[in-house]
Amino acid sequence: MDAPYCKIIGKDHLQGEVSISGSKNAALPILVASILTSEPCIIRNVPELTDTLHMLGILRFLGVEVVSLREGCWQLTAKKIHTDVQDPFVRKLRASVCLLGALLGRELQATVPLPGGCRLGERPIDLHLRAFRALGAHVEQNEHSVCVRAKRLRGATFSMSGQRGPSMTGTSNAIMAAVLAEGVTIVQGASREPEIVDLCHFLEQMGAKIVGAGTETIVVTGVNRLHGTEFTVMPDRIEAGTFIILGYLCGASIRILDISQDYVKDNFRGFLDAIPYAKEHLRFENHQLIVRQIEELPGFSVCTGAYPGFPTDLQPQVAVLASRAHGTSTIRDLVFPKRFAYVTELQRFGIHVSQQEGMITIHGPNTFHGGWVAATDLRAGAALYLAGVLANGKTTVSNLEYIDRGYEHFEQKLRHLGAIIERC
Ligand code: EPU
Repeated sequence: MDAPYCKIIGKDHLQGEVSISGSKNAALPILVASILTSEPCIIRNVPELTDTLHMLGILRFLGVEVVSLREGCWQLTAKKIHTDVQDPFVRKLRASVCLLGALLGRELQATVPLPGGCRLGERPIDLHLRAFRALGAHVEQNEHSVCVRAKRLRGATFSMSGQRGPSMTGTSNAIMAAVLAEGVTIVQGASREPEIVDLCHFLEQMGAKIVGAGTETIVVTGVNRLHGTEFTVMPDRIEAGTFIILGYLCGASIRILDISQDYVKDNFRGFLDAIPYAKEHLRFENHQLIVRQIEELPGFSVCTGAYPGFPTDLQPQVAVLASRAHGTSTIRDLVFPKRFAYVTELQRFGIHVSQQEGMITIHGPNTFHGGWVAATDLRAGAALYLAGVLANGKTTVSNLEYIDRGYEHFEQKLRHLGAIIERC
């Protein structure tokens, strides 16, 4: 096996402190949004992930001056940029689609290869293109790339929701294309995800006029220009949720730093509501969120949905929690109904899980035995690490490039909690 893999020896209990990195899904559109001004932007708490490093590489390719001021802190200055994104990295990450909105907003044109990202089922961009057309852009798409161009962008009213709810990067794209357009844009059915709110806070600090971030109707009033600013990216909601689930699984007491009581209230509504006794096993002490193991967790049902519903990005991780529940649990993913490729990997741990259309059923509790598993996407990879930490014996996880896309220093953080884990 020449590709790197991770070896994990199971343990009953973990405990200790873990710090939460900056949010991948907030940092990526914010890095892109910095090209909406020719003045310097300083962005802090950018997690060091292959996705963020790839995005910085793409921005450099476009002509943005990208300077690392210190770990996680970048200064971006887009004095003069070109709009034909042929960078080979584009295909590696989904967020590269946000380049369309920012380049269209600033230069009235863009050519971007079709985005990549995790294999979660089909990932169309029809809602993005509908927004660009509504703002007055001409859109051409072939099997390789998308080209958008406009003589001018004029405010418009349109929806960012499709049959599976609002589009997160679609909402980011629409806002970035609208902030410099002439007139008022009303984005209906907008994504309410906290990462969208973070992006809007960044754009408002640059001088954008945005009302309604975090609600399903976002109103953008175009301005003539934006100016540079300094901004700190929010902590990663999905990473924090991953460690909370780890605490429910095996935390004598896991203490999560860097998130406040308000942060938990604002970011974890749908998540905690779905897990029995979840809130009773969390408490705040000295600005730390302390998570305790949920003994005798009963079976439960989860149905993912757009924020404030249960986040699809915690769906594989909560399947591992359900595997330890005393009873039958069901997990349905309404956002990505095909996001269950990891189920075959869970079965290798000896977990009793069956799959139907768009949902899985888990009969617990299961004792996990270690085995050889492969990550199938970014969050599934994290779920396999959680199962490996719990399993009897040794687990080997491959396809670690998925983990490196979305979890900063993941193995070190788990080791700091007492996990026996090493990358080979
Ligand atoms: N959709 C359409 N048409 C579109 C766009 C989306 O039908 O034009 C559908 C999708 O197929 C999906 C639903 O709408 O069924 C939601 O997709 P969305 O556009 O919100 O997904 P995304 O923007 O491509 C972002 C995150 C994902 C997260 C989803 C859902 C980033 C870079 N990625 O993806 O994060 O799962 O929103 O919240 O922001 C992850 O971090 O592991 C991850 C996959």
